[in-house]
Amino acid sequence: MFTIKETTADSLIALRWQVLRPGRPESAAHFAEDAAEGSAHFAALDINGVVIGCASVIKKNNALQLRGMATAPEWQGKGVGSAVLAATQAYALRQGLLLWCNARVSAVGFYQKSGWHTEGEPFDVAESGPHVVMRFSSESC
Ligand SMILES: CC(C)(COP(=O)(O)OP(=O)(O)OC[C@H]1O[C@@H](n2cnc3c(N)ncnc32)[C@H](O)[C@@H]1OP(=O)(O)O)[C@@H](O)C(=O)NCCC(=O)NCCS
Repeated sequence: MFTIKETTADSLIALRWQVLRPGRPESAAHFAEDAAEGSAHFAALDINGVVIGCASVIKKNNALQLRGMATAPEWQGKGVGSAVLAATQAYALRQGLLLWCNARVSAVGFYQKSGWHTEGEPFDVAESGPHVVMRFSSESC
């Protein structure tokens, strides 16, 4: 059982750090644009209100970049990530903005199941490994 809500970046830092930036300083889990106008943050909460899933969208050049997509290890494979992702997709549709991300190659299948498509060739990101640009298209869902 979990619920999805729009929230603050601050409430997502611990999960981002644990899942996406392990072994690095806590500051690596903060994004420069977290508080920027047009940014929005989404959490999945368990029945105790603990954040078990997260994602953020950052407005750049009239599009939204998805960042910080993560599910707590013990909750992975239970629909949390796709529910958080759906909240970001709905937000982008309401805003009328394109939604894209630099996806870890290891997570491409996760995004594809929600109607995302890769664009171009994979590239390396320092300390995070291979990534590829992906874009959400509501027409494919
Ligand atoms: C990728 C991640 C966010 C997925 O979250 P999740 O809560 O486990 O995903 P869900 O349970 O909602 O999975 C939805 C579907 O995607 C599939 N899926 C999940 N992760 C996948 C992956 N890495 N590759 C391929 N398919 C995947 C699931 O099997 C499920 O398929 P189904 O609908 O046929 O059952 C999570 O595994 C995670 O935090 N990984 C580590 C951090 C990471 O890689 N983040 C993405 C950075 S770009």
